[in-house]
Amino acid sequence: MKKVLIISSSPRKNGNSQLLCEKFKEGAESQGNEVCLIRLAEKNIGFCHACDACMKNGGICVLQDDMREILEKYKEADVLVLSTPVYFYGISAQMKTFIDRTYPIWQHLGKKEVYYIVSAGLQREIIERSLGDLDGFVEHLEEYEIKGKLYAENVMEAGKVAKTALPEKAYVMGQMV
Ligand SMILES: Cc1cc2nc3c(=O)[nH]c(=O)nc-3n(C[C@H](O)[C@H](O)[C@H](O)COP(=O)(O)O)c2cc1C
Repeated sequence: MKKVLIISSSPRKNGNSQLLCEKFKEGAESQGNEVCLIRLAEKNIGFCHACDACMKNGGICVLQDDMREILEKYKEADVLVLSTPVYFYGISAQMKTFIDRTYPIWQHLGKKEVYYIVSAGLQREIIERSLGDLDGFVEHLEEYEIKGKLYAENVMEAGKVAKTALPEKAYVMGQMV
């Protein structure tokens, strides 16, 4: 049994990446894993102030918001799923804010098995050139293995991915964690 944390960063509740995250969760749970799926859009998470207080006080952020409980979930997780839509050849602002707010523990990001779930209106090459911020975060982990990447390309409208084979792929990927 593994602990799985899914960070879903689309603002669209019925969006493509969110749907794939839900299927991944179902698959992982079907094998007895403990899964926590967090929609960042539903959380109160402020921007990093870059005050460096956390670097001087043992890793406590001055912002008292939902990132506290999310960091606790992060520390416990064996498996980390990072999910984002492509926005302007990059990741969502919500995902970047989450990443920046891991700063209090950036030297202790631990060991994780990592998956990416990404959706985009355009084609696969666009997705591949858009994920530098995810890679940059993951490279800061103490130990990691990128175990899977699921790309939903050509899905501009919310929910369009439901008509493809990708939800099933996400389910199977979740089953295999
Ligand atoms: C602000 C914004 C910027 C976007 N920029 C891009 C882009 O650069 N490339 C692309 O392929 N799609 C882009 N899209 C389309 C989304 O990536 C696409 O609709 C995707 O399926 C959204 O994921 P979601 O359904 O999980 O929210 C953009 C959408 C928005 C709202």
